[in-house]
Amino acid sequence: MRLLTLRLTISLVVGITLISLFSSYYEVRSQRRGLRRDLERRVEVLAENLVDQIEPHLNLNQGSGKNLQLMIDRFSSREHLAGIAIYNPQGESIATTAGLASRFTGEPAVVQQAATKSQSAGEYSRMGEASVYIYALPLHEDKAVVGRLAIVHDASYINAQSRKVWRDTFLRVLILVFLLTLTTLLIVRWSITGPIARTAQWMRALRTSKISSRPAMPDLDLFRPLAHEMTTFAASLTAARSAAEKEAQLRHAGDTFWTAERLFVHVRGMLGTSRLFVVANREPYIHRRQGTSVEAIVPASGLVTALEPVLCACDGTWIAHGTGDADRETVDKHDRLRVPPDDPRYTLRRVWVSKEEEEGYYYGFANEGLWPLCHIAHTRPLFRVSDWEHYERANRRFADAVLKETEGMDRPVLLAQDYHFALLPRMIKKARPDTRVAIFWHIPWPNPEAFGICPWQRELVDGLLGADLIGFHIQSHCNNFLQTVDRTLESRIDWEHLTVNREEHRTVVKPFPISVEFPENPLPAEAGKSTSMERVAWLRDLGIEADFLGVGVDRVDYTKGILERFLAIERLLEKHPIYREKFTFLQIGAPSRTRIKRYNDLLIEVEAEAERINGRFQTGKWRPILLMKRQHSHHEIQWFYRAADLCLVTSLHDGMNLVAKEFVAARQDEQGVLVLSRFTGAARELPDALLVNPYDIEQMAEAIRLALKMDSEERKTRMQRMRKVVREHNIYRWAGDLIAELCEVRLDEPANRLESQMGHPPVEQSAEAIRID
Ligand code: G6P
Repeated sequence: MRLLTLRLTISLVVGITLISLFSSYYEVRSQRRGLRRDLERRVEVLAENLVDQIEPHLNLNQGSGKNLQLMIDRFSSREHLAGIAIYNPQGESIATTAGLASRFTGEPAVVQQAATKSQSAGEYSRMGEASVYIYALPLHEDKAVVGRLAIVHDASYINAQSRKVWRDTFLRVLILVFLLTLTTLLIVRWSITGPIARTAQWMRALRTSKISSRPAMPDLDLFRPLAHEMTTFAASLTAARSAAEKEAQLRHAGDTFWTAERLFVHVRGMLGTSRLFVVANREPYIHRRQGTSVEAIVPASGLVTALEPVLCACDGTWIAHGTGDADRETVDKHDRLRVPPDDPRYTLRRVWVSKEEEEGYYYGFANEGLWPLCHIAHTRPLFRVSDWEHYERANRRFADAVLKETEGMDRPVLLAQDYHFALLPRMIKKARPDTRVAIFWHIPWPNPEAFGICPWQRELVDGLLGADLIGFHIQSHCNNFLQTVDRTLESRIDWEHLTVNREEHRTVVKPFPISVEFPENPLPAEAGKSTSMERVAWLRDLGIEADFLGVGVDRVDYTKGILERFLAIERLLEKHPIYREKFTFLQIGAPSRTRIKRYNDLLIEVEAEAERINGRFQTGKWRPILLMKRQHSHHEIQWFYRAADLCLVTSLHDGMNLVAKEFVAARQDEQGVLVLSRFTGAARELPDALLVNPYDIEQMAEAIRLALKMDSEERKTRMQRMRKVVREHNIYRWAGDLIAELCEVRLDEPANRLESQMGHPPVEQSAEAIRID
C-alpha cells in the first residue's frame, strides 16, 4: 500500500511539475513579448516626438550642438530611459545625455544601419551588465539625411518580470505538490486503504462465520460491486462446504436425505455424457423494463419453485415461453441466457410465441379448457377449435426448440412439464426416438367421464403416450389417467406395473409426489424472538394490533378456495367473538391469468369479500383480513410463513399444493399449524395437518379455532412429523426418482416390438411377461 501511495504521489508530482513548467514557459514568453512590444511602441513615440523637435534645429554646420544637448537632456529623466545620442552623418556624436557617453564607445551598429537604409531600426543588446533596447532613426533636412538619433532604453525590467514569473511558478508548484501529496494520502487512506481493510475483515468474517451469523456488508465505497460478488461467492463457498459436510454426515448415518449435491452426482451417473432438458411454459426469470433499467422477476408458480433447484443442481437447459417485455434483449443470438442472474448455474432457452398464439394456446386451450377440465372446481371448461389449433402449433414450436437444443447430442433426457405440452412427447419421440422423454402432469387428472368432455381427448392422450414416462402427483391421478386411456385408445394396460403398451411403445405411468427444498440449517435461537418482534412492528405499521396471525399464499385462482377461506374466517368471528381484535388473516394473493375473465372477476370478488368481512368486524386498531394483492418474493414469503401461527391451504382441488410443503419447510421452530384441504395431493402426505373440506365452512372455522388454541406440545409433535415427511421427500428426491425411472427405460428394445417379432398375439399378459428390462 505504501508503494502504491509513493507511486501515486511521484506520478502526481512529476505530472504537475511538467504541466506547471510548460504553462509557465508560455506565460513568460507571451508576457515578455507583450512587454517588449510595449517598450518598442513607447520608444517609437518618444523618438518621433524628439525628431519633430530636433530637426528644425539641425543646422549641424552652424554649431547647434548646445541646443540639441539641452533638448535631449530634458528627456533624459524619463523612467527606464538609459540615454539619447545624436550623431552627424560621419557617425560622430554631437550630443549625448549624461551617463550614456561613458558607456558608448562608438556608434552602435544599429544606428549605422538606420543611416544606411534611411529608416528606423531597433535592437536589443547589452550595455555592460544591463540589457537595453536601442532605437535609431535618420534625421533629415530637406529630405537629405543629416544625422541620426539613437534612443537607448533600459530593458532589464523585462527580464526581472520574467524571473518573477518563474519564481512564482516555482512557489506555486511547491504548494501544489504539498497539497496534492496530502490529498492523495488522505484519499488513499479514506477511500482505498480503509475500505480494503474493512473489506478484508468482512470477507474473513464471511469465510469463517456461519450463514445465520453472517455479518452485514459494511460501507465499502468503491468496493461495493466487488463486495456484492464476494457475498455470492462466499454464499456458494459456504453452501459447498456445508453440503460436503452434510454429505459426509449423511453417508455416515446412512441417511436417505437428498441434497442438491446428491442429486447432481446421481443425475450425472444416470445421464453419462447426455444432458437434462426441461420444457415448461412458464420461465423461471422474466425480464421486465422498469423505467430505464431491466429487472428479473421470479413468477408465482409452484412449478418454478420446484424445478429451479433441480436445474441448478444439474446445470440443465430450461426451455420456456419468453413473456417479459425485456426478454428478447437479455438473450444471446441463440435465444439463450444463463440464470439465476446473480449466480448462473443453468441455461434458460426462450421460445417466442405470438400474442395471438399465446391467446389461443395458453389462455384459451390450456387455461380455459384443460385447467378447469382437470380441476373439479365447478368452472365450465371452454373448448374452441381455434384454441386447439394454436395449442397444436405451440406444441410443435416448443418441440422444434427441443430438437434444436438436443441436436447432435447422444440420448438426451427430456422432462416436459404440465398440461401445456400434452402433444409434445409424441412429436419428440417421432423425430428423435433416442430421446428419453418424461412428462410430469402438475395438475390433477380427472375421472374418464370428466375428461371425456374434451373434444380432443384422443389426441391429447395419444400425444402423452409418446412419452416413456408419465408422472402424476398421486396414485389416484395415475389410475384416472389409465382408465381414460382404456376408454379412449387401442392399447394394452398392465395394471400391476402401471404401463401402457401402444404401437410398439411402452409408457410407464407412476406417481411422483412433487416437493420443495428443505433447509437443513437450524435457525439461530434468536431468530424466533426477532420474528415475533418484527411481526408486532409490521402489524403496528399497518395500524393493526393482533395476538394471532394466519397466512395464506396463493395465485388468485378459483381452484384455491380463497373465498371459502374468507367465509370460514367470518364464521369463526361470528361463532367465537373472543377472536375479534385478536386474529388477523394475511392473504397474499398474486394476480394470475387476469386476461381471462373468470380470473379477473375472481380478483374483484376476493377484494370485495375481504372488504365486506372487514367492514363487518373491523375496529379502530384491528382488521380481520389483510389482503396483499401482489406477487411477493420467495424471501418475503418465508418471513410470513415463520411469523404466522397458522397457514390456510383450502384448495377446492389441487394436484399437490406446494404452499403447504413450503410452510412446513419454513417452520424450523417446529411451531405453526397447517390447515389443509383434503382435496390437495399434499393431504395424502401430511395427515398431521388439520385436514378440512373447503366446501364445509363450519368445519373450516372450527379447524381455525382448533389451530389457534392448540397447545405448543401438540403443535410441535404435528409439525415435527410433517417436517420429517417433507425432509425425506424433498424436491431433490422427486427429481432423482423421476430421472432414475426415466433412465431405466430401454430405448432400443421395447417390450412389444420383441413380442410381435416372436409372433405373439397382442393379448393382455402378466406384467412379468411384458417387462423385459
Ligand atoms: C400451476 C401449473 C403450472 C403453472 C402455475 C402458474 O402450478 O401447474 O404449470 O406454471 O400454476 O400458472 P401460470 O399460468 O402463471 O404459469
